[in-house]
Amino acid sequence: MSEFENKVALITGTTGIALATARRLAQGGAAIVACGIDRAANAAMQESFVKARANALVQTVDVSVADEVRDVVAAGVKRFGGIDIIVNSAAIHPYGTATTTDWETWNKAMTVNVGSIYLTAHFGIPEMIKRGGGAIVNVASVQGFACQQNVAAYATTKGAIHTLTRSLALDYAAAGIRVNSVSPGSIRTPILEKAARGDNGSDADVEEAYRRFGAAHPLGRIGEPEEVAELIAFLCSSKAGFCTGADYRIDGGLTAGIGVK
Ligand SMILES: NC(=O)c1ccc[n+]([C@@H]2O[C@H](COP(=O)([O-])OP(=O)(O)OC[C@H]3O[C@@H](n4cnc5c(N)ncnc54)[C@H](O)[C@@H]3O)[C@@H](O)[C@H]2O)c1
Repeated sequence: MSEFENKVALITGTTGIALATARRLAQGGAAIVACGIDRAANAAMQESFVKARANALVQTVDVSVADEVRDVVAAGVKRFGGIDIIVNSAAIHPYGTATTTDWETWNKAMTVNVGSIYLTAHFGIPEMIKRGGGAIVNVASVQGFACQQNVAAYATTKGAIHTLTRSLALDYAAAGIRVNSVSPGSIRTPILEKAARGDNGSDADVEEAYRRFGAAHPLGRIGEPEEVAELIAFLCSSKAGFCTGADYRIDGGLTAGIGVK
């Protein structure tokens, strides 16, 4: 029997780490319920899953809207019979300090990055309980531990994800639901590409920025989404049966040092 046979995984986000994770879990036999706000990315994901003959339902959802999350959970249950795994990867990455971030942007970051994890738990956990348990993995960031300048809202959400992970883990351990987070360093995905393009937007800037970001990591490179997906898959699997309430860094050693040579 393959790793995730008869398992149904709800994944927020349809690009980058979410897409790599969906592919990895599907390879292990899981049915995928993916949801994201980017219609073009959703269509591309659905098409690639059809081509690969994988079981997937991809829906356009704003994960910060309660009714939309409730509906995608219900659609997943209707199509595949339940929910066993939740991977929360959707996020936005606004730039700004406390004085340059407006209230709307601050609240948007909180509801998309953290509120969505509450919402998938609120609607998804009762379904997991019906199946006798499950696993949740939240994608946090190294910025939940040590942050850059000018990302006040984003960094705050990532610290909150660490705390929400622990809280969910304690509240649902007895129900057989394990909850963990992963904290990546720089990973080659659309969010990083946006950061790398900065204001100029040329391809040369992107490669140069990736080299620069990579050089800051002791392993000398940025990470790949498939590497994060592999860690997430482990945490979702029965091999991680004694892991709950913890964060797992996947950052090429970035947060191991104090950055002074
Ligand atoms: N790439 C990195 O360097 C890096 C580093 C640390 C943490 N992370 C985290 O990894 C996670 C995945 O990001 P990624 O790197 O794959 O980038 P990404 O931009 O490919 O993924 C973010 C996804 O969130 C979706 N999304 C944004 N707002 C949404 C909304 N309101 N409703 C539904 N979907 C929405 C986007 O459509 C996209 O699919 C994020 O939580 C991010 O903070 C990324």
